[in-house]
Amino acid sequence: MGLADFMKEARGQLDLTSEALKLVAARFETAMREGLAGRPSSLRMLPSYLARPGGGERGDAVAVDFGGTNVRVLRVRLADGRAQSEKSSSFCLKDPKGTYDHTRAQTRAEELFDFIARHVADVLAGESAILPLGHTFSFPCRQEGINQAVLIQWTKEIRTSGVEGRDVTPLLTEALERQGVRHVRPRAVINDTVGTLIAAAYQLRDVDLGSICGTGHNTCYLEPCHPLTGQPMIVNMESGNFDGVTLTPFDRAVNDASGYPGAQLLEKQVSGAYLGEVVLAALRAMTAEGLLPAANKSWDRGTLTGVNLTQVLKDGPDCGKTKSVAQTQLALTDLSKEQLLSIRKLVESVTGRSARLAGATYAGVVRYLDPGLGRGHVVAIDGSLYAHMPGYDAGIRAGLEAVLGPGARSVTTRLIKDGSGIGAAIAAVVADAQA
Ligand code: BGC
Repeated sequence: MGLADFMKEARGQLDLTSEALKLVAARFETAMREGLAGRPSSLRMLPSYLARPGGGERGDAVAVDFGGTNVRVLRVRLADGRAQSEKSSSFCLKDPKGTYDHTRAQTRAEELFDFIARHVADVLAGESAILPLGHTFSFPCRQEGINQAVLIQWTKEIRTSGVEGRDVTPLLTEALERQGVRHVRPRAVINDTVGTLIAAAYQLRDVDLGSICGTGHNTCYLEPCHPLTGQPMIVNMESGNFDGVTLTPFDRAVNDASGYPGAQLLEKQVSGAYLGEVVLAALRAMTAEGLLPAANKSWDRGTLTGVNLTQVLKDGPDCGKTKSVAQTQLALTDLSKEQLLSIRKLVESVTGRSARLAGATYAGVVRYLDPGLGRGHVVAIDGSLYAHMPGYDAGIRAGLEAVLGPGARSVTTRLIKDGSGIGAAIAAVVADAQA
């Protein structure tokens, strides 16, 4: 097979048509209904026990934002409808120099939470006021209340032992006690999508979806009448686990090589942790066909990062940036212009598919909430892909328009920076007032 034929076939699989996106949205809507009714569904539809905030919440709180390998601790003040982060510290659970890694299976839950609690102690050093704490824990959790969350399964390739199946609130509370932090009270545990929705809704009207397009991918929405309470409640769909999109051979290769084959299929097609892996799978297929030279380096997991993909997407007509990524990351030199252009097109197709799929799932939620598209809807979004990847927002809009047609005008997308932490602080203040 020649390069042109390979590219035609690969792009035919990756560049989803409007019909394919409509099918994704329809399947997503069905999966929402099934999951909410407690029937088998790839959408977990997890209750958060939180509704939209009123906007008048006031007070100080601490937020621990555990999203993946990075954790942030923030001290937040809520006043007059504004949330302000007063102090913060960000740290990595995995030392880039390799001296420690709290995300591997050899680390125990207690070590991981002690490490986090020590950072809370640092941020609050010198303080004595009693503060409510909101914990953003961005993994699928079964909740039976606002301050209780049992980890169902790790995602984002984290494997720390002894956390799955346990409630993370006592794990954090006990670690804080061991580290001598006695003046904070853990009050709420939330997902980052829920935090993003809450932080946006604190200031804006019409926000009914919250989503993360970053290392991981997931979306939550405000269910107007939750079956558990008959009241409005934000539902964490864990949409990264949605299985309604046809897998390409590249997706199958990524899924087979992952820590959890069969799980998080949409996340493996959409999120920053996997986009580079999908591109690598396509490049491996090109090499196998003799369309790229064999590299004298193995392409391990993480060879192509989100930053590399962004560099390629920003390339000019001379393909200089693609050439440099091919040399430094893939150890491929002397590529022809046609080969460089093919790599760039693959990156465009894989990242464009990610954005359009996210948009199609948002359209599915909007259809579920408002079949006649009679009112405005705001999707609050955070994450590195949405914030930094060229063309990502346009791709989301293309996905919305493919499904909703002109009705997509009723849907607005908004970047909400650091909403996951701010939202946890708002949730903590709300829960503290109810305690
Ligand atoms: C997790 C979600 C989270 C998303 C974004 C996924 O891997 O399962 O809970 O919201 O990543 O961080």
